[in-house]
Amino acid sequence: MTATSCNIAMIGLGVMGRNLALNLLEHGFSVAGYDLQADLTAQADKEAAALGKAPFVACDSLAQVLATLQKPRVIALSVPAGPAVDAVISALLEAGLAFEDTVIDTGNSLWTDTLARDKAYQGKLQFFSTAVSGGEVGARHGPALMASGSADAWRQVGPMWKAIAAQVDAQGKPLPPMSQGEACAAYLGPDGAGHYVKMVHNGIEYADMQLICEVYQCMSQQLGMAPAEIGKIFADWNQGVLNSYLMEISADILQQADPETGRPLVDMILDKAGQKGTGLWTAVNSLEVGSPAPTIAQAVFARAMSGLKSQRREAANNLPLMAEDTLTPDPSALITQLHDALYCAKLCTYAQGFALMKATAAEQGWPLDYAEIARIWRAGCIIRAIFLQDISHAFQQQPELENLLLAGHFRDALTERQQNWRRAVAHASLTGVSMSGISSALQYFDAFRTEVLPANLLQAQRDYFGAHTYARIDQPESKAYHLTWSQMPRRQVNT
Ligand code: 6PG
Repeated sequence: MTATSCNIAMIGLGVMGRNLALNLLEHGFSVAGYDLQADLTAQADKEAAALGKAPFVACDSLAQVLATLQKPRVIALSVPAGPAVDAVISALLEAGLAFEDTVIDTGNSLWTDTLARDKAYQGKLQFFSTAVSGGEVGARHGPALMASGSADAWRQVGPMWKAIAAQVDAQGKPLPPMSQGEACAAYLGPDGAGHYVKMVHNGIEYADMQLICEVYQCMSQQLGMAPAEIGKIFADWNQGVLNSYLMEISADILQQADPETGRPLVDMILDKAGQKGTGLWTAVNSLEVGSPAPTIAQAVFARAMSGLKSQRREAANNLPLMAEDTLTPDPSALITQLHDALYCAKLCTYAQGFALMKATAAEQGWPLDYAEIARIWRAGCIIRAIFLQDISHAFQQQPELENLLLAGHFRDALTERQQNWRRAVAHASLTGVSMSGISSALQYFDAFRTEVLPANLLQAQRDYFGAHTYARIDQPESKAYHLTWSQMPRRQVNT
């Protein structure tokens, strides 16, 4: 290997950067690696040597990184989202980065930061971004990669990303590492599109996790089932329409014993959820663009509610349950209802996420391809699920589809399962089990399928106290009406 022939550099060799680098090496791409912490560079060097595939050049400065790369250079950053990204880019520019060189941000950056960077670095370098999903194992053996930036940079970067991404067969089934199939990597559009799509992926991830947790809670509280029993049911569900990575790991977790006490491990874990913020970003985006994603927002609220542990402890002792004590569930019926409720609520969550992407893409002028997004989420990423194949088909057949709930396949699935979904929500409500995500999805569904909502009264209220005007159903919507309500003579409605 000559000193100037590496295909790509990886700056930041923490868990994600190191595993992406090893994945690249395994696929035959030579990598120049650098981390501010020399021990991390040394660890990557050792693991690269043990792998024994393409050459890895351990660098001790950014100048060495630049000198080690083929031109035009491709430099991937795997550094914490935020100021660190700009700090490394400034240092690279000082070290001699050229205009035609591409710098790829592979972190979980906020998409509006990516938009700003795209502008800020114009004329200085080719700024590109690639959001990575799949955690440590995905990065090493096949992540889902959501790329955006200049199309020219994609021509250089694309072949590497497609090689290292997770692969699926024609039926959408994930293939083992190092196989060749359809790659879960795509160029999604300019500037912040990739990071945006990954943010919505994470919002869906939050909701998907919450929905599974609510089913577990209901089975545990209402049916008194042990975690391992619930885990077995989840494993069974994972063979059908609910097949997904999150279902699979939940089944696994619930059947795991605590090595210290021998009790179910899940029972030993404190019920306070953490979060890094991507679900919150999605909920905020939904509020800002006015595209309802209540199940995603509810999942963020559910994490916040979990954080109120001491207040909940006090409330549990002070707010008695006044519920239907005569309601004895039939276990197998309730389990079937919960299965269908989970499927329907999950579908509503994806419908919310895709509708949200459509709304923001329209604002930003991004040509997002929703069939392609569903395709690259079929493997590698955290929300990979069998029904992404159906979502991809739905958008392939109807690229202009406004909402997934209106696609024939899903409309039929909702018709078939709707009653069970309602029964599960009613049961939870009557017996005091919190199922905020599954219920919010049902509320979304019912509001969406209601032709006339009470927003007529709401508009009148706004006009009454604030002269905010309203439109009439018998006149063009653009025409605004206002009444001085308080001074109006009271009239009887003609019946
Ligand atoms: C992924 C994950 C990944 C990370 C989340 C965790 O796609 O690989 O989404 O990005 O695990 O950011 O988020 P919270 O800590 O907020 O749950």
